[in-house]
Amino acid sequence: MGKRNIVITGGAGFIGSHVVRLFVNKYPEYRIVNLDKLTYAGNLSNLSDIENRPNYTFVKMDICDFDAFLQLMQREKVDGIIHLAAESHVDRSIKDPFTFARTNVMGTLSLLQAAKLYWESLPGKYKGKRFYHISTDEVYGALEVTHPDGIEPPFAAPANAPHHKAYGEDFFHETTNYNPHSPYSASKASSDHFVRAFHDTYGMPTIVTNCSNNYGPYQFPEKLIPLFINNIRHRQPLPVYGKGENIRDWLFVEDHARAIDLIFHRGAIAGTYNIGGFNEWKNIDLVKVLIRTVDRLLGRPEGADLDLITHVPDRPGHDARYAIDSSKLRKELGWEPSLSFEDGIEKTVRWYLENEAWMDNVTSGDYQAYYKNMYR
Ligand code: NAD
Ligand code: DAU
Repeated sequence: MGKRNIVITGGAGFIGSHVVRLFVNKYPEYRIVNLDKLTYAGNLSNLSDIENRPNYTFVKMDICDFDAFLQLMQREKVDGIIHLAAESHVDRSIKDPFTFARTNVMGTLSLLQAAKLYWESLPGKYKGKRFYHISTDEVYGALEVTHPDGIEPPFAAPANAPHHKAYGEDFFHETTNYNPHSPYSASKASSDHFVRAFHDTYGMPTIVTNCSNNYGPYQFPEKLIPLFINNIRHRQPLPVYGKGENIRDWLFVEDHARAIDLIFHRGAIAGTYNIGGFNEWKNIDLVKVLIRTVDRLLGRPEGADLDLITHVPDRPGHDARYAIDSSKLRKELGWEPSLSFEDGIEKTVRWYLENEAWMDNVTSGDYQAYYKNMYR
């Protein structure tokens, strides 16, 4: 595809850092600008292995800063934007919805408007341009749990998809109506609508993808998997919301990054793709897998830490079940996850256990205050 100048927003965060690394390594001919405000969730040490590459540069910027972003577009002659910057944690959105509206809605709109001004000023206008917005399955709302004990495949998943079991017959499809419940998902839904509106109104070449729960290295330990791995290691309580019956559909983060690469280059303009691994887990079952894995890798007797499970009051508006139908992406672009869940969890637990310095670094300061206040 030749040379490209791409801005990746939120590149110092969890998923963004994996996307930046993939693009910097795979496309030496591209110029990759990582634009990030470095909030509590952004950490440049996530990218220390590629920070000196000639095709990589970091710019500290708030996506709400319209003038600064317009200047960056002009200076760097940006022809592609992969937009991941966001406030991403549901519990924080319940306590502080304004910050979510500001960054996720106004920030996205600011990027869109700046991209529009710059691209429309060029002779070729939108030719060869892309505004790719990374969104979530949470915009679709919650699915019903019609089979609490799970049903075995095949269900919606293609026969060769690596899958666990499903807890209902319904899945989120690209055509499922939006029905967000948390301030986080409401803000993401709003930003998705703005992105699509810029295609429909101005002809901007946009793409939106909606992905299920990611897990893997470099995830901030406010999210279930890294938080619990760290707590098991230090024999701290594991705060399971409610009965732990809620269901999430988990995908290894590098498989999400691979999907983003494929869709950025080959996805249909104005297209929407669901990304997920047909990998539903009840929280309580997943927590037990984490305990078993950490205990085994630390040489503790298997199940030694099961008594750390502590049921705490449920998250308000807690969505019962997410399950993504990713058949379109598989059929149209040939994507499929590279890792089984067992291998992905093993790799993830090992990474956190081997990178204690990273965990200590991100759990100092602001995090301590936030986490101590969580269960007051
Ligand atoms: P994250 O919280 O780990 O990282 C977000 C990044 O955005 C951080 O580096 C942060 O500094 C940056 N940021 C926040 N506000 C900013 C602002 N105003 N200006 C510039 N940068 C700002 O998030 P994540 O889990 O990596 O999620 C990335 C994207 O993927 C988000 O848009 C999220 O909605 C979406 N998503 C996440 C998941 C998941 O499971 N984590 C699943 C599907 C979709
Ligand atoms: O589905 C995609 C979404 O997945 C992304 O859009 C979000 O950015 C990402 O944060 C994630 O949202 P969740 O709310 O599903 O993730 P979280 O890790 O916070 O919680 C996973 C499940 O575990 C959820 O049912 C709530 C539960 N939970 C979470 C925490 C942090 C607990 O029981 N205890 C906890 O301490």
